[in-house]
Amino acid sequence: ECEKKLQNKVVMITAGPTVEAIDPVRYISNHSSGKMGYALARAAQLEGAEVRLVSGPVSLRDPHGVTTVRVTSAKQMFDYVKSNIADVDVFIGCAAVADYTPVEVASQKIKKNDDEMTLKLKRNPDILAWVGEQQATRFVVGFAAESQSLKEFALKKLQKKKLDLICANDISQQGLGFNSDNNQLLLLYRDGQEKLLDIATKDALAADIMQEIGEHLKQRS
Ligand code: C5P
Repeated sequence: ECEKKLQNKVVMITAGPTVEAIDPVRYISNHSSGKMGYALARAAQLEGAEVRLVSGPVSLRDPHGVTTVRVTSAKQMFDYVKSNIADVDVFIGCAAVADYTPVEVASQKIKKNDDEMTLKLKRNPDILAWVGEQQATRFVVGFAAESQSLKEFALKKLQKKKLDLICANDISQQGLGFNSDNNQLLLLYRDGQEKLLDIATKDALAADIMQEIGEHLKQRS
């Protein structure tokens, strides 16, 4: 079967880390490489979708035929999502959005002294949960990286963020996940279906995920 599964569909994907400024030279971030999100963007494009990739700072090249928007902070990522979500059929939150951001960004470089220093942080918006809250026919997908109780914690996130599908990966397994080219994913659907995608490259997993999403969209219509 070689028919394209996401023809005429608009797919939005968040990818990579977010970077939260402390002052003009310092920031808070994480080790997300963006590899999974970019693989998903390429796979969706190959299935015929119009793809909008919203990416934090990563060292990957823009995927061919994909509208790629580079952002820095969670707030910028959220602003882009809010402004460009209206016609989106499939939303995939794959970014490692920083959970916290400095309450204030110093306009000048903060000077050190010999005392301890305290940085006050506030919660960032949960972009995926916001998309899940929207009353739309949109298919909403999240990722969950867990180091224990994989299925239980992932199912909680599926419900809390009102997702249709969550792709869970066990980050206690060496050589998989974060910076790696390989991963293993447990797919958990809102309706209780589940499917294990065994260890493979992120490109192969992304292709499988797009097939899965295509099938579920077909069943819906
Ligand atoms: O709650 P947790 O961060 O583990 O959830 C992970 C999922 O939620 C991922 O799909 C991630 O992209 C999304 N997320 C988000 N905005 C946040 C935190 C997480 O979109 N502020």
